[in-house]
Amino acid sequence: MPEKQFVVTPWEVTGHVDYDRLIRDFGTQPLAGVTAKRLEAILGEASYLVRRHIFFSHRDLNLVIDEQEKGREFFLYTGRGPSGPMHIGHILSFYFTKWLQERFHVNAYIQMTDDEKFLEEKRNLTYEETQRWAQDNIVEVSAVGFDPEKTFIFQDTEFVGHAYPLILKIARRINYSTAKSVFGFTGETNVGMSFYPAIQILPSLFERKRCLIPSAIDQDPYWRIQRDVAESLGYYKAAAIHSKFLPPLTGTQDKMSSSKPETAIYLNDDDDTVRNKIYRHAFSGGRASIEEHRKLGGNPDVDVPFQWLYMFFEPDDKRMEVIRSEYSSGRMLTGDLKNILVEKVIRFLREHRERREKARSQVRLYKKDGTLAREIWKHDFSKS
Ligand code: TRP
Repeated sequence: MPEKQFVVTPWEVTGHVDYDRLIRDFGTQPLAGVTAKRLEAILGEASYLVRRHIFFSHRDLNLVIDEQEKGREFFLYTGRGPSGPMHIGHILSFYFTKWLQERFHVNAYIQMTDDEKFLEEKRNLTYEETQRWAQDNIVEVSAVGFDPEKTFIFQDTEFVGHAYPLILKIARRINYSTAKSVFGFTGETNVGMSFYPAIQILPSLFERKRCLIPSAIDQDPYWRIQRDVAESLGYYKAAAIHSKFLPPLTGTQDKMSSSKPETAIYLNDDDDTVRNKIYRHAFSGGRASIEEHRKLGGNPDVDVPFQWLYMFFEPDDKRMEVIRSEYSSGRMLTGDLKNILVEKVIRFLREHRERREKARSQVRLYKKDGTLAREIWKHDFSKS
């Protein structure tokens, strides 16, 4: 049988992703064995995301944990391309990053790449639209609850001028053939895109400490370049921890898409919209009729409500195993399974929305006035 085709790049995720194959192709390490155990022990409640291989791959995570144990700090860096409203798949790695910050008590930098989304021509966004989505998305990210004194959230078009000297040093180290082969640039790609990798690498050099980057695996190409250039600039190679993609509601292929609202649940979907989307559009591993389902059972591997519970919404392993065996034996029906997910998602979104209202007043701290934000804005990047 020929392997199914899939594509994973920073601009495109399609097909049925083979994650083991990505580990081999990207040259990362599986997050398993001793390293996974050490991280699980640190993460506490959130450890299910590692145990269940939602965060499934890494680079140099063991070195980060070693350093932390020896009392040497590291820092966290993650980001978001503000191209539209954020959905549940987008927010997962921010919650994960926040849990890491709580556990390790370290600084976190969060980059909003309005520049990148403007440059990606396929998206057809005006400059004003990227600005509006950046404002909107910053509030969503703030709602996650990062420590306002230890977190800096910045929008590239507002901030990067301040760091331009360091960006130049990074850019001079990346030659065009590397960028071209890593990102697949062609003669038609605009030159802004060729410069942009220097900007996404920048935050990994905000401190002369090791940087740990939680992100979906599609961002790894940037970290590969970062690791080629960092040491020659006097900084550490970044460590990374990679997540899988939460599958779209409509099936286990591709990624949720902002242009197809039925594939995703947005952070601002109200309760009725959540119910509607899950009941009407969630791809089910159930059988065609109740009789058949009772007899043959459902298939949790292709069932999106099951996958969403497993990947994010049901941290309790015992509960998850009960659901699996009830569903695959046919005792639990598709409707029952969807009910469980609906309830979980609605509760999560209500809590997120409440935090979002409180977070509006915190945005100033994250961007400008918190301890870390003030430090970075004062930092002289010509001496970096
Ligand atoms: N390029 C990312 C996107 O399109 C945004 C981003 C910037 C990011 N820096 C990051 C994501 C660091 C993860 C980690 O969404």
